[in-house]
Amino acid sequence: MKEIRIAIAGLGNCASALIQGIHYYKKTRKREDSSPGLMHFNLGGYVPANINVVAAFDIDKRKVGRSVSEAILSKPNCTKVFHRINDKSPVKVYMGNVLDSVADHMMDYPEERRFVLSGSKPADVVKILKETKAEILLNYLPVGSENATAFYAEACLKSGVSFINCVPVFIVSNDLWAKRFEEKGIPVIGDDIKSQIGATIIHRALAKLFEDRGVKIDRTYQLNVGGNTDFLNMLNSTRLKMKKISKTEAVQSQIQVPLAGENIHIGPSDYIPWLNDNKVCFLRIEGRGFGSVPLNLEVRLSVEDSPNSAGVVIDAIRCCKIARDRKLGGPLTSPSAYFMKHPPKQFSDDVAKDMVEDFISGKRFR
Ligand SMILES: NC(=O)c1ccc[n+]([C@@H]2O[C@H](COP(=O)([O-])OP(=O)(O)OC[C@H]3O[C@@H](n4cnc5c(N)ncnc54)[C@H](O)[C@@H]3O)[C@@H](O)[C@H]2O)c1
Repeated sequence: MKEIRIAIAGLGNCASALIQGIHYYKKTRKREDSSPGLMHFNLGGYVPANINVVAAFDIDKRKVGRSVSEAILSKPNCTKVFHRINDKSPVKVYMGNVLDSVADHMMDYPEERRFVLSGSKPADVVKILKETKAEILLNYLPVGSENATAFYAEACLKSGVSFINCVPVFIVSNDLWAKRFEEKGIPVIGDDIKSQIGATIIHRALAKLFEDRGVKIDRTYQLNVGGNTDFLNMLNSTRLKMKKISKTEAVQSQIQVPLAGENIHIGPSDYIPWLNDNKVCFLRIEGRGFGSVPLNLEVRLSVEDSPNSAGVVIDAIRCCKIARDRKLGGPLTSPSAYFMKHPPKQFSDDVAKDMVEDFISGKRFR
């Protein structure tokens, strides 16, 4: 059977949703038309069941040393359990390298809500990636983990493993990093995963709709709240710099004349513990239509955050594997543009979608 061997850094809510989903879609192996929640059941010859987690790294004492299937259900993870995995995974979680990934302010919150650092010695990540024959590493570290993300990216360069960067630290969209992956012939996708029906893709689509229909956007905001560790971590505004750039550029790129800084406000806004992994987004766009007559639009989105991102990652993994089969190296422009908020090059989502289809069919190189 075909196999895609993945490693994961950060077994938080996003990893939990992804792994549950891989098992969930195993039962629909032969029923392509009855697989709700997927953009592709079969992508370039690969189905979700082909994805196999062969290595995992975390730093939380409730996850390190346990099996992957146990770790994804351990605190402080709080995403919906939509599929119980019956077989215990034989893959154990290794201790990662903490560096700058744990924010000090988290210690003011109860243990069940925050990370609790393991005292274990960091594992040799490069050695494990090689020994397990991992092909792709998913980066799911907390926002603001600039050094830790660089550490895992470096480990990928040393082991020939592809990097799918789901977090807002600029690696794939950074020319220097991109060149290094290109020189080594390692395909990469990034940066900062764009969810299935998330705040970013809705905001981009609406901004483009205003533009296409001749309505001048004057100002806009996107406020997001949630109760998972991602939102708790983001209470520290010094960790948010790249997140704000990534989310703001994702919307600005869809507007012909970008808005002045004071007229656009996009970002995580607060932490509400009882929301758990439910994210609520409040979005407003103000503009002027025919005859400069004002109009405004308000949207409220409520969505389980982590499955929302997993529905896109499951395609990113398979596009990356296709690129490895085709011996491509460096940033994959089309999958990055459609799947990520901060790709090397921005396109509108309808154009990026067609580019991905052409990439999958082989009509498009990258
Ligand atoms: N829809 C989404 O959920 C979405 C969308 C875009 C981006 N993201 C980003 O994806 C990332 C993961 O999100 P999440 O909700 O799973 O976060 P999370 O807080 O649930 O999980 C983070 C995990 O990383 C672990 N960790 C921390 N430092 C580590 C290190 N140095 N090495 C290995 N593991 C480490 C933590 O213990 C935890 O298990 C975040 O940066 C988030 O902003 C998520």
